[in-house]
Amino acid sequence: GATPKIAPSMLASDFANLASEAKRMLDFGADWLHMDIMDGYVSLLSWTSLLKDFASLSFYFFSTSCFSHFHRHFVPNLTIGAPVIESLRKQTKAFLDCHLMVTNPIDYVEPLGKAGASGFTFHVEVSKENWQELIQKIKSKAMRPGVALKPGTPIEEVYPLVDSENLVEMVLVMTVEPGFGGQKFMPEMVDKVRVLRKKYPALDIEVDGGLGPSTIEMAASAGANCIVAGSSIFGAADAKLCFGKSGEMLTS
Ligand code: DX5
Ligand code: ZN
Repeated sequence: GATPKIAPSMLASDFANLASEAKRMLDFGADWLHMDIMDGYVSLLSWTSLLKDFASLSFYFFSTSCFSHFHRHFVPNLTIGAPVIESLRKQTKAFLDCHLMVTNPIDYVEPLGKAGASGFTFHVEVSKENWQELIQKIKSKAMRPGVALKPGTPIEEVYPLVDSENLVEMVLVMTVEPGFGGQKFMPEMVDKVRVLRKKYPALDIEVDGGLGPSTIEMAASAGANCIVAGSSIFGAADAKLCFGKSGEMLTS
């Protein structure tokens, strides 16, 4: 098929130089900029410190249950939000491919729309009840809706969202557990891509996590046409060498 789109994951860039990092990627030929939006949760380590602090502990027990604390968050990391998207939008016209690793994506539609996000990809695991309303809202803010799924989620779970009248335009197949860059690609996720491509010949299928010179070919030949790559690009001695003349990612 056609050369897949390349979306450098800005999570792996130097956040203190976000605008120039973005420009550098676009100059190399990147098609989209992948923006990982996460809502973070208290790690076990901080729980230990919380336990040491009686004041905080009683606050936690009285205000909210410990459990709901965990459930308000999707991943154990805190990255960027609408204000950063808004600042970056002033620097570039590029397609900002936002990946929402948050528990309540609907709360982010309005602010991200205002900030100038282009794509809004939410997780199917947290939108079981309200995905129709969510997609509607994303479209009303002139963003492109997408749905993502974690490695443990069966591919069938996204079918209704693609088949519905108010459909998503992209499915993001996570090839690592969401939360952090620099993890190892899970080759067994390629089957999901293959099944999805067979069922939906024209759908945008994005893969995210552990993509680089040695794994891109596997994902692309299975049918992925949008490739997210963070540490493989930003960690390269010369990021420019990751891209071919026409902006395609070079494979090894
Ligand atoms: C992981 C994020 C990815 C991440 C990919 O939760 O969704 O976008 O930045 O990073 P690499 O390419 O390093 O696996
Ligand atoms: Zn991502």
